[in-house]
Amino acid sequence: MPDAHANGTRLVSVCGKGGTGKTAITAMMARALVDSGRAGKLLVIDADPALGQLCALGVKPTRTMGQIREDIIRTAQAGNKDAKTELVHKLDYMVFEALNELEHFTLLAMGRTETLGCYCPVNSLLRGAIEKLSESFDTILVDGEAGLEQINRQVVRRLDTLIIVSDPTSRGMETAAAIKDMVEREKIIECRQLGLVFNRVIGNEALLEAAAATLGLQLFGLIPHDQEIAAFDLVGRPITELPAGAPGQAAVRRIVERCILG
Ligand SMILES: Nc1ncnc2c1ncn2[C@@H]1O[C@H](COP(=O)(O)OP(=O)(O)O)[C@@H](O)[C@H]1O
Ligand SMILES: [Mg+2]
Repeated sequence: MPDAHANGTRLVSVCGKGGTGKTAITAMMARALVDSGRAGKLLVIDADPALGQLCALGVKPTRTMGQIREDIIRTAQAGNKDAKTELVHKLDYMVFEALNELEHFTLLAMGRTETLGCYCPVNSLLRGAIEKLSESFDTILVDGEAGLEQINRQVVRRLDTLIIVSDPTSRGMETAAAIKDMVEREKIIECRQLGLVFNRVIGNEALLEAAAATLGLQLFGLIPHDQEIAAFDLVGRPITELPAGAPGQAAVRRIVERCILG
């Protein structure tokens, strides 16, 4: 991705163990960013192959970058030179097709990578196309996969803010520690600020603050367990429709104000 500071695009990614609430939090963050009126043009990238973000945002299934990649590989394997040349010209348009223009922001679904093996030229073509696309947005919010796949696959290579989500369990915190380690030691991604968010919190706030300090992670905030979030998810109602004052949404709004817009 282009340097976040060079072109003014603000890049934010949410990662953490599966089931900790990344998708719900990303959706609530999108809502908070839109409501603030200060995020500019917003692109939400669903980097989870299961496409949970579509449901959280109430968006119909769509063409994904994974499908576009398949098309490219198929054409390349067919070996027709003209088709290949045409493909390169059509790439920007193909990526454009995977964009969902919603009322207040745009959604891009990465989807599943079906053809395994090394297709480095294809991957770098796609990355280039996403890089180019990202320049026309002011804020990009990535709903990550369970682990650090999206960082490994380098959907994003530079970040302003990496938000690690953990539930209040030792396993969630172990994953958080592993992510921190990977970012700081292996330097797989350049990251301006890194912080922890505990989700589904029911009491024990002081213990969680101490745990974040032990992990050496800045605590971006605590999001309470909110029955309404689970209830919306249960019936497939978009998380973005939660009342603005709902406890989970209010906590996310504070995190967005302080860590992204602040
Ligand atoms: N703060 C919360 N309070 C209650 N339920 C939550 C909260 N955050 C997430 N959930 C629920 O937890 C489950 C997993 O959340 P999800 O966002 O899909 O996790 P992930 O994307 O990390 O796998 C969902 O059923 C969701 O509704
Ligand atoms: Mg998810």
